[in-house]
Amino acid sequence: MSMLKIYESLLVNIRSAKSGTENEEEIIDTEETSPGVCHSINMNEEVRNAILAYGFFAVIWSFGGVLHPDSKQRFSEYLKNLCDQDPTSSKPRGLQIPRSVQLPKFENVYDIVYVKKKFFSWCLWKDVVTPTKIEDIIKLNMKNNENDVHLMLNDIIVSTPGTAMQMYFLETLLLQDKPLLFVGPTGTGKTAITNSFLRHLPQEKYVVCQINFSVQASANQTQDIFLTKLERRKQRVYGAPLGKQAFVFVDDLNMPAKEKYGAQPPIELLRQWIDHGYWFDRCNKY
Ligand SMILES: Nc1ncnc2c1ncn2[C@@H]1O[C@H](COP(=O)(O)OP(=O)(O)OP(=O)(O)O)[C@@H](O)[C@H]1O
Ligand SMILES: [Mg+2]
Repeated sequence: MSMLKIYESLLVNIRSAKSGTENEEEIIDTEETSPGVCHSINMNEEVRNAILAYGFFAVIWSFGGVLHPDSKQRFSEYLKNLCDQDPTSSKPRGLQIPRSVQLPKFENVYDIVYVKKKFFSWCLWKDVVTPTKIEDIIKLNMKNNENDVHLMLNDIIVSTPGTAMQMYFLETLLLQDKPLLFVGPTGTGKTAITNSFLRHLPQEKYVVCQINFSVQASANQTQDIFLTKLERRKQRVYGAPLGKQAFVFVDDLNMPAKEKYGAQPPIELLRQWIDHGYWFDRCNKY
C-alpha cells in the first residue's frame, strides 16, 4: 500500500475528531491512558501529535508492511530507536518526538494502532477488539421480517486482534476509495472477514462485484466479467448503478497462471485500472 494513500485516509480521522470538538483549546488530561505521565495537552497539540503519529503508522504499514517477518522485527526496533530519548542512540540530530507520540518501547510496532477513544493514543490491536455478540449478528442477518433469520456458521466472525486490524484497514481505506491488498498465510480469514465487511455495507449505498481468480483466469475473461457486473453509463463509460458506489473484491489474486514471460495478465489488467483508471475497448481499439 502506498504510504501517502494510507496517510491521507488516516488524516480524515483527525478532521472528523476535530469537528466533533467545538472548543479547540479544550484541556485534555492524559493521566488516564498514560499512568505516571501527568501532563495536559490542548486540542491543537493533540492534532499536531496525531498528524505525526499517523505518519509513523503509515510508514509502518507501507514500507514496513511488505517486509519479510524477520526484517519486520528489525524495522520495529529501528523505528522505536528513532523515538528513544537516549542521547547515545543513533538517530538524526535534533529529532525530537513528543512523548505522547513515541512508539511504546515494549511493543512491536505492528501490534499497535493510534486511535481516538477519549483522546488520541497508541493502543494494542487487542484493546480495540469489539467482542462478538451473537444477538448483533442475528440482527444484522435479519431480512425484513424478524422470523426470517438465515444464520450460517460462516456468518459468525470471531473477533480477534487480526480481525480488528483487517476491519480497521477496510473501513479506513476502502470507504475512502483507496484500493487495498491483504496478504497472509492460508486460513487466516482474509476472505471470510472481507466478505463479512462487504455483506454488512448498506445496500442502498454500495454494490459489490466479487470475482475469484483461478489458474485459468485470462485478462479478456476478467475484463468481460467486470463489465457485465457494471452498468453502461455512456458509450465508453461503465459504473455502478446511479447513486451507488461499487466495490470490487478480487479473491485469490495470486492464482492466475504465469505466461511465457512470467507475468500474470489478469493482475496486469487490474494494475492498469488502478494506476490509469481505464481499460481499452478490445473491439474498437480505443
Ligand atoms: N476470525 C474468524 N472467525 C470465524 N471464522 C474464521 C475466522 N478466521 C477464519 N475463519 C474461518 O477459517 C476458514 C478459512 O478462512 P478464509 O477462507 O477466510 O482464509 P483465507 O485467509 O482467505 O485463506 P486463503 O489464503 O487460503 O484464501 C473459513 O471457514 C473461515 O470462516
Ligand atoms: Mg481466501
